[in-house]
Amino acid sequence: MRIDIITVLPELIESPLNHSIIKRAQKKGLVSINLHHLRDYTTDKHRTVDDYAFGPDAGMVLKIEPIYKAIEKLKSERDYDEIIYTSPDGEPYTQKLANILSTKENILILCGHYKGVDHRVREHLITREISIGDYVLSGGELAAAIIVDSVVRLVPGVLSDETSALTDSFQDGLLAPPVYTRPAEFNGWKVPEILLSGNFKEIEKWQMEQAYERTKRLRPNLLREE
Ligand code: ADE
Repeated sequence: MRIDIITVLPELIESPLNHSIIKRAQKKGLVSINLHHLRDYTTDKHRTVDDYAFGPDAGMVLKIEPIYKAIEKLKSERDYDEIIYTSPDGEPYTQKLANILSTKENILILCGHYKGVDHRVREHLITREISIGDYVLSGGELAAAIIVDSVVRLVPGVLSDETSALTDSFQDGLLAPPVYTRPAEFNGWKVPEILLSGNFKEIEKWQMEQAYERTKRLRPNLLREE
C-alpha cells in the first residue's frame, strides 16, 4: 500500500508515523508513506500557499493553484483509489472506514489548514472527506496521522500476530474485553480467577460477556448500529 500526504506542516505528521508498528511496516516494505510539502508546488517568490478568504470573515484559506498542481502531479504517477481531505465537516471516521481504506492500493490525503481549502478543491479534486471527531484541530495533519496509523495496522502482515487486530475494540462492533498480566495479585488486587484457569473455552466466553457488558454500559450506541 502507498499513502501520499500533501501538507503545509510535514513535521507534524512525520514523527507520529515514524515509531513502533507504523515504522516497522514501512521498513518491511508493506507500506510506503510519502509526505509532500505544499510549498514545493508554488510558483511565486514567497512560496505562498494561503490567502485571505473572500467575504467578511477573517481567516486564511489554502489556495487552489498549488493544491491542484500537487494533486495533478501525483495523479500523473499513479491511480489513486481515494483522494481524501481531512476536515471537521467530513464523514465521521470509524473502524469500519479504516477497514475499507486498508484494502486500497494507493491513497492520497490532503491536509486542511487555517480556515480550510478553497472549496473548489473539495468540489472537483477530492473523493472523500473525513472528520476524526466533532472538535476542531489547528490543521488536518494530526487527523491524517490518526487515519494512517489506524489503516496501516490493518494491512496484512503489519501486526506480527494477525489475530491481535481482530481482537481490537470496534473490530467486531464491540469494545475489547479487559486484559491483565502478571502478577496475578498486586496490592491485594486480583486478576479475575477465570483467566488463570487455563480453560480457554471458558475464558473466551468470559471475554465475550465482558466485551458485551462494557459496550452496553460505556457505548450503548454501538449496539444500536447495524
Ligand atoms: N481538521 C481540523 N479539525 C479536524 C477534525 N476534527 N477532523 C479532521 N480534520 C480536521
